Amino acid sequence: MTFVVTENCIKCKYTDCVEVCPVDCFHEGPNFLVIDPDECIDCTLCEPECPAQAIFAEDDLPAGQEQFLTLNAELAKQWPVITEKKDALPDAADWDGKPDKVQYLER
Ligand code: SF4
Ligand code: F3S
Repeated sequence: MTFVVTENCIKCKYTDCVEVCPVDCFHEGPNFLVIDPDECIDCTLCEPECPAQAIFAEDDLPAGQEQFLTLNAELAKQWPVITEKKDALPDAADWDGKPDKVQYLER
């Protein structure tokens, strides 16, 4: 199993999640974070830390978010590891909860 970052992280990127991960499995892109499924140990610590409630266990992915399982695996191979919290994206509060944000995902 793994945990998965889903759509609501896009354009928010609060990064609270990275501070608690004991195995540094978050990777950072321009406006989204992903979890490396090969490194995640299913500790559950990151899930409650996300202000945007964007992190789910693989088995609990909400309807419509299934594609993020493979997206996390794919992008984790391309993006660098992030281990320290940084400022959220400037308009994070405005984008939090907006639907259909996957079209804005930057790679
Ligand atoms: Fe890291 Fe644990 Fe979250 Fe997996 S569940 S990404 S190991 S904090
Ligand atoms: Fe994204 Fe939530 Fe982490 S918005 S960067 S998954 S704290």
